[in-house]
Amino acid sequence: MNIILLGPPGAGKGTQAGRLEADRGMVQLSTGDMLRAAVKSGSPVGLKAKAVMDAGELVSDEIVSGIIDEKLGTLASRQGVIFDGYPRTAAQAEQLDAILTKHGRSLDHVIELEVNEDKLVVRIVGRYTCGQCGTGYHDSFKHPKVAGVCDVCGATEFKRRPDDNEETVRTRMAEYRAKTEPIIPIYAARGLLARVDGMGEIDAVTAAIEAILDAV
Ligand code: AP5
Ligand code: MG
Repeated sequence: MNIILLGPPGAGKGTQAGRLEADRGMVQLSTGDMLRAAVKSGSPVGLKAKAVMDAGELVSDEIVSGIIDEKLGTLASRQGVIFDGYPRTAAQAEQLDAILTKHGRSLDHVIELEVNEDKLVVRIVGRYTCGQCGTGYHDSFKHPKVAGVCDVCGATEFKRRPDDNEETVRTRMAEYRAKTEPIIPIYAARGLLARVDGMGEIDAVTAAIEAILDAV
């Protein structure tokens, strides 16, 4: 099964993709995570992407579709994938169709997380992760059990994304509205779209997504 999780910054795409990966053995393909890894490694893609990401704007369609194409080439076609943060433009949606065909795959569901943008800013600016294993925490909603120590791996270094400040979040949201929202009707017209309330508890959102994936 191949699915897309759609929604603005902070909608919970990464959170839910991580759960589906753990529960169903699917593979999460987050273009944001892959681009951040490229920035960290100092690769040519990373060097091109860094300033664009820090400004909250979109990296070029060629770069992100190239990353997805390359990654799918490393997976067996029966291995289900969750596209997290891709596609984000009409051009990427078209490129994804061609990439899926090339790799012998097709799209099963496009799930839109419906959210209240103003509440998302709070989610995003409070978010941080373990510097070692990447487990996510939040200043208001999810603290480590022992202050300053990761629950999962015991590390004591944490980090925040450079684009998780209020000003950049507003730009990311505007980019979503201008360039990503317009692709939603394309998937609706193909009968692939399902909507889930992304403002519920994390478990409730997961349950709603699982129900869509399990429906015959
Ligand atoms: P990307 O990394 O994809 O960021 P984003 O879309 O802005 O989304 P986020 O990762 O911030 O949010 P999320 O929906 O994953 O939410 P999360 O689960 O973390 O992209 C970053 C940048 O890379 C882009 O700006 C662009 O420059 C570039 N890029 C990436 N892909 C690209 C593409 N295809 N084309 C061009 N450029 C691209 O949740 C957020 C917080 O809320 C967490 O703290 C979480 O614990 C909490 N939370 C989640 N769900 C709930 C809930 N139900 N209730 C309460 N809290 C919750
Ligand atoms: Mg994410």
